[in-house]
Amino acid sequence: MKKLVFATHNLHKLEEIRNILKNHEIVGLPEIGCHEDIVEDADNLQGNAKIKADFVTNRFHLDCFADDTGLEVEALDGAPGVYSARYAGEGCSYHDNVVKLLEALDGVENRKARFRTVIALNLNGEQYFFEGIVNGKILTEEHGDGGFGYDPIFQPDGFDESFAEMNMETKNRISHRGRATAKLVDFLNNYEK
Ligand code: IMP
Repeated sequence: MKKLVFATHNLHKLEEIRNILKNHEIVGLPEIGCHEDIVEDADNLQGNAKIKADFVTNRFHLDCFADDTGLEVEALDGAPGVYSARYAGEGCSYHDNVVKLLEALDGVENRKARFRTVIALNLNGEQYFFEGIVNGKILTEEHGDGGFGYDPIFQPDGFDESFAEMNMETKNRISHRGRATAKLVDFLNNYEK
């Protein structure tokens, strides 16, 4: 079975992809002995995904993929975008970010936003990128207590619920990460070399 590193420390993300990519042995960073924090200092999602995938391939000589996600709000010119995790400052909580975003959009009529995920894949000396997007809007207050991050204030187009009110299967089917992952899986399942 072909071994492929997923450059993440997140066990939930690893489990999720293992359930989909059954014909690959997916290993996380701890399993290859990589315990460092990889510095993600690019100013865009593609750049950060590339930094993580390249770090592993260069250091460990292994095929690897990595993802990066941001919430892009139209009225804020795409912010918080690549800075979504630390929008309210270094070491902030998910809730701090939600509060800051609600404040930034206080009284703003245009609530359009999208989540975007970019996956970088290094495979046999080539690099590939996959993108997943879900369009929606930022609610004026929090709804639901499922999910994580900005889920309580993001409502995807075509739904009356926030991401935090949806069951996980529905969210994974339509989400940015779900869509980018589906493209990666499709590519790998049809890849021959
Ligand atoms: P990461 O690149 O997957 O670590 O995501 C960066 C940041 O985007 C996270 O810290 C969250 O704040 C936000 N984020 C990513 N995916 C989601 C999601 O599915 N729902 C809500 N927030 C998310």
